[in-house]
Amino acid sequence: MTPTPDIPSASETMAASVGRTLREEPQRWLSPKWFYDDLGSVLFDAITRLPEYYPTARERAILVARSGEIAAASGADTVVELGSGTSEKTRLLLDAFAAAGHLRRFCPLDVSAGILDQAATAIAAERPAVEVVPVVGDFLHDLDRIPTGGRRLVVFLGGTIGNLTPDEQGRFLDRVAATLEPGDGLLLGTDLVKDVDRLLAAYDDPVGVTAAFNRNVLAVLNRELGADAALRRWRHQARWDPDRERIEMHLVSDGAQVLRVPACDLEVPFADGESIQTEISAKFRLEGLAPLLAKAGFGAAQTWTDPDGDFALTLATRD
Ligand code: SAH
Ligand code: AVI
Repeated sequence: MTPTPDIPSASETMAASVGRTLREEPQRWLSPKWFYDDLGSVLFDAITRLPEYYPTARERAILVARSGEIAAASGADTVVELGSGTSEKTRLLLDAFAAAGHLRRFCPLDVSAGILDQAATAIAAERPAVEVVPVVGDFLHDLDRIPTGGRRLVVFLGGTIGNLTPDEQGRFLDRVAATLEPGDGLLLGTDLVKDVDRLLAAYDDPVGVTAAFNRNVLAVLNRELGADAALRRWRHQARWDPDRERIEMHLVSDGAQVLRVPACDLEVPFADGESIQTEISAKFRLEGLAPLLAKAGFGAAQTWTDPDGDFALTLATRD
């Protein structure tokens, strides 16, 4: 099972994106998409096993309890998973769709080719009756490369929508709606606003896995763009923004230093304590979910949470 070739999308190249976002002032930033080389994907998988990182376990608990209901309500024969990673939790859904006798196709889409290939190969071997069609691509730009036809359910798990700015969330949902036919579905996982200490602990674990995941983006810039980042001179920091109700991850410069990125023709001086924002992770409120989806043309939303109310899974139908 080989992923489809990585057709260059209409979107920016990595050098253009990094050159643009690292030039932005006062807050220089990087798209979280650059975290996920092979090592970044392994580090994210390790994060999901940390006791402090509750979202994966909570979303899995909802899927254990509700996958049968979701399969029956959706009636889809094709499950399309965006930002699929290992597709580990998705297997619960695939089992429920298969048990309901619906499942014909599974189309995982991810920017990280290695993890996508591994997951797709394993799922194809486990489920010979299902056509597995992996797509290496960007969920903001490459939705037109998802196979069409049949009744489709797009699943977007993990709370990954929170890694998009509010503008991007709106554009993303509009594009998903434009890709789907009336009656098709969207299953959306969102992490909910909660106690700030728990949130900060989830993004700054004592073992340092999240710090390694964060710093790895600099290793990606060094390898892919010839940058000269000294990883030990950048400190991991997780911050809570109470106004925007989001976690931000930063890499904070330890001392004054210059970051050179030859592929972007860029030399950026950093003062001691100045940072690069590497990720936002927005947290949602239950009452905001149906309006967010309705704005993009998704109705009849049904939302489930885990017993502690930490995480939500919403099933909506394209109007
Ligand atoms: N859905 C999984 C993985 C979440 S991690 C879960 O719930 O555990 C986020 C995943 O999205 C990673 O696999 C990463 O490679 C992918 N990703 C991040 N930005 C992306 C983008 N712009 N387009 C496609 N995939 C992206
Ligand atoms: C993939 N995404 C939803 C994760 C999150 O929680 O925002 C990425 C992550 N960053 C740090 N830890 C996990």
